[in-house]
Amino acid sequence: MELNQPEAKHKNSESLFEIENLEVSFSRAGVETFAVNGVSFSLKAGETLGIVGESGSGKSATCLAAMKLLPSTIAHIKSSQMRIDGLEFSAFSERQMRDIRGPKIGMIFQDPMSSLNPVLSVGVQITEAITAHQNINRQEAEAEAVKLISKVGIPQPATILKRYPHELSGGMRQRIVIAIAIALKPRLIIADEPTTALDPTIQSQVLELLKDIIKQSNSALIIISHDFGVVAEMADQILVMYGGKIVESGPTESLLNSPRHRYTKALLACLPTGDMHGKTLHSIEGEPPDMKLKPSLCSFAPRCTNSIPACMIDPCDMKHDNVETGRQYLCHNPVEYGVRTNEY
Ligand SMILES: Nc1ncnc2c1ncn2[C@@H]1O[C@H](COP(=O)(O)OP(=O)(O)OP(=O)(O)O)[C@@H](O)[C@H]1O
Ligand SMILES: [Mg+2]
Repeated sequence: MELNQPEAKHKNSESLFEIENLEVSFSRAGVETFAVNGVSFSLKAGETLGIVGESGSGKSATCLAAMKLLPSTIAHIKSSQMRIDGLEFSAFSERQMRDIRGPKIGMIFQDPMSSLNPVLSVGVQITEAITAHQNINRQEAEAEAVKLISKVGIPQPATILKRYPHELSGGMRQRIVIAIAIALKPRLIIADEPTTALDPTIQSQVLELLKDIIKQSNSALIIISHDFGVVAEMADQILVMYGGKIVESGPTESLLNSPRHRYTKALLACLPTGDMHGKTLHSIEGEPPDMKLKPSLCSFAPRCTNSIPACMIDPCDMKHDNVETGRQYLCHNPVEYGVRTNEY
């Protein structure tokens, strides 16, 4: 994964997926919300990119905009570039997007119940996903669906085909959603909080399944999560979002061991550690940013205990640790490299 910030703009020919300078705003009843403010990143085949950040930071809006799944009546999307597998699709029409959604990018949503149709059997839903894009008959599509169901680890796939979503457990439903997402062998899977609704044992099984799928198919995965634990386990690279911007990014281990942005450090300090008996969890003081204001200065500065005068006056450019570490952060007064405490 590589951030393509203005001062480091160089195209990576190996990139499987690239977004450059994405902006998303919503207009409702004359009020504008600036949900995504200049987000750029790329990732290569085989890579998993984790996106973390608190609620409302623009994680879903970033991915839904890439899939053009935001309501066009209220959402305004601008980007310099969106590219999958060498194909530039930022100006694609709804009709052209049908060749992207499914065959190129598969999407897994947080709540499997809302992404499955309750009145259709899972067999019909998987075969429809296949026949919408492939010229094969129903029997062949059903045989393909059986293979997919067993690939996502559900026993007796032929029986499962006849079941309706409400007849399956939460974990099974999420596996069916994954089967639909991978039915057309997409190059990229975007999973938005794929395990939040599942209990911990099922959560780790579903994450393992996603890992296996990416490894076997040499595709790429973007996983969005509130949970640093999930992202730490899955991702090669992490993007931290705040106020609709990427405030920090880099290889997972380096970023977790030595956060440079004050917000990343604060988020990590909020994680439970070892024996929490009798201890209270940290939380970040203050209010999340007002997304009705387009940010020019650091949106975290009002909550930051280490802000300096420049934070309130000067817009910050993305800083690079060096090419080898691949670490980038948007902070005037970053944490020193190698410092990790539970305070911020
Ligand atoms: N359909 C919409 N209409 C109006 N505003 C929206 C819409 N979808 C998102 N927003 C706003 O855009 C901002 C970013 O929302 P987004 O859903 O991307 O956050 P998120 O980081 O995915 O949060 P969460 O962790 O809660 O899922 C928020 O201020 C949100 O209120
Ligand atoms: Mg979201």
